[in-house]
Amino acid sequence: MQMGRFALLGAGIILAAATATALQAHGDVTPQPVDTSALPEIGADWLEKNPYSGNGKAIEIGQSAYGQNCARCHGLDAESGGIAPDLRYLELGESGDQWFMQRFRHGSSHDGKVYMPPFGDVLGQKTGWAIRSWLETKHEG
Ligand code: HEC
Repeated sequence: MQMGRFALLGAGIILAAATATALQAHGDVTPQPVDTSALPEIGADWLEKNPYSGNGKAIEIGQSAYGQNCARCHGLDAESGGIAPDLRYLELGESGDQWFMQRFRHGSSHDGKVYMPPFGDVLGQKTGWAIRSWLETKHEG
């Protein structure tokens, strides 16, 4: 009888620990470094307009960078499962570029809750524009 209760207690603790880990895996987003050395240098100042639009190498790098850093919320292959907005519908062109970069750099928080973490300082603008270039190829009207 005592043994049974201990076993049950043990199972409960393991379950609680597993749940905590799962929550952390979603909430605590560790950005994955991206190698952008193959892309043309664009300087330190944040640009307003995607300098890599249509660049095949940028699209390739962007696809993998998206898979590692964005897909867990925005969906595999940019098809959102509903947790976060579907990025295929982002506007093309300069105003879309600016909105994309605003979110990429600063993320989104309201009422003290982080909806999307900021990526600008960790991943840098070369990676941001590479992701944008890949998303442009996935655009839907
Ligand atoms: C932890 C989940 C999460 C991750 C990871 C994440 N996002 Fe987001 N993103 C969100 C949520 C949630 C919103 C909506 C925020 C809001 O409505 O305030 C959002 C909004 C956006 C928007 C604005 C979309 C719109 O239609 O207005 C862009 C652009 C964006 N994210 C790009 C990215 C990119 C690029 C990455 C990867 C580098 C990324 N996000 C990673 C959760 C995430």
